[in-house]
Amino acid sequence: MLKAVNRYLLFQRNCSYKPIKRPNLIFPERKTEPKIEIPEEKKNRLFSQLKARILTSGPLTVADYMKEVLTNPLAGYYMNRDVFGSEGDFITSPEVGQIFGELISVWCINEWRKVGSPSPFQLVELGPGRGTLMADILKVLSHFKLNKNMTIHFVEISPHLSKLQAQRLCYNHKDVEDQLFYRHGETISGTKVYWYKRIEDVPEEFSIVLAHEFFDALPVHKLQKDENGLWKEILVDIDSEHSEKLRFVISKSQTPISKIFKPNDDDTRVCLEYNLETERIVRHLADRFERDGGFGLFMDYGHFGEKSDTFRAFKRHKLHDPLVEPGTADLTADVDFKHIKMVAEEDRKLIAFGPIEQGTFLDNMEGPTRLQVLLDHSSPEARENIESGYKMLTEPSQMGARFKFFSLFPSILRTHLEKFPISGFFK
Ligand SMILES: C[S@@+](CC[C@H](N)C(=O)[O-])C[C@H]1O[C@@H](n2cnc3c(N)ncnc32)[C@H](O)[C@@H]1O
Repeated sequence: MLKAVNRYLLFQRNCSYKPIKRPNLIFPERKTEPKIEIPEEKKNRLFSQLKARILTSGPLTVADYMKEVLTNPLAGYYMNRDVFGSEGDFITSPEVGQIFGELISVWCINEWRKVGSPSPFQLVELGPGRGTLMADILKVLSHFKLNKNMTIHFVEISPHLSKLQAQRLCYNHKDVEDQLFYRHGETISGTKVYWYKRIEDVPEEFSIVLAHEFFDALPVHKLQKDENGLWKEILVDIDSEHSEKLRFVISKSQTPISKIFKPNDDDTRVCLEYNLETERIVRHLADRFERDGGFGLFMDYGHFGEKSDTFRAFKRHKLHDPLVEPGTADLTADVDFKHIKMVAEEDRKLIAFGPIEQGTFLDNMEGPTRLQVLLDHSSPEARENIESGYKMLTEPSQMGARFKFFSLFPSILRTHLEKFPISGFFK
């Protein structure tokens, strides 16, 4: 009976949605897709859940699909595994070498001093991964004896990664149920650390907010203009020819998101990615920085409002089809810094700096000088790694140009920052 209902629902769906072609990011030269048969053992539990959801309530927005694939409590990509490094699916800048975190730490100290060294202060990190960036930052802050004036606040959705962070940073830690934070701990040098699911739950105090490769993991809506100039939404549906596969289709009419979306006046794109979750967090930061003081540094790959189609998947350091084996590969989309800037500055609460390329930022932060100090104090075997690591972070052909730095400050500091420009963004 259930099978018959499923077949009927599938038949109805196939008659109603128009499939849509996306550029082939994995094999750009291919005009047609080869037929893929998915072996029984590769059909996964998340796929079955997604299929049931689509059959009962219709195709999913790409944002709903991305959210489910990355953060489903049981089978989401980030929820139960360590995904970083040569054994994982991708490597991030903090994992390349300690110099990255050290230079970010120097940036935080410079800017904190520039705004009058407010004390105590909160260091907030969104999506801290293995906790490597914070561990390297903390070493420098402890050196300057600032670790006693501050508390650390992690916004992390993954139970597995949050445990890695606690093991990495804390001397002791404990899970709690009756607080806005779900865990707290203490580092060996006595700095208190707290974990939250949402930035809204972090206490309302002066905060330095860092986000490295966080915004690219937040769900995007994919919008496309039709021949009448109306924005429609690309959705994820079950394939009409293969009920064990997913495909992209275009919505029949406007969706709630495509209705509320307002492009910039000078935006000529007919296809783009819209990140409502990023917009929500930036609006929250605008209120927070204006009310309690603070500033933010975002480090991510992204563009300035010119790219159309960047939604993709990575598995074992290679591009992967985002609709195949959901939950086993990372899903990501480039950050639209132009949109963030527009949202941040629209109520005149914030001023934005950047985006500038990672290589330029690290060099402006005296990266080569710090590199030389590290080399002078290293064994001959370690030197090669340190040097190639810095090259990897800064060379335009490697991570130096693809990754961008972007910063937000309260606009009340505008005149002050014109006099004392923020470091890293200016030579
Ligand atoms: C691409 S990883 C980056 C990790 C780390 N910042 C680095 O660069 O090595 C994304 C991080 O964001 C977390 N994350 C993803 N979606 C999240 C969400 N909606 N709320 C909180 N954390 C999230 C992941 O669990 C992971 O720690």
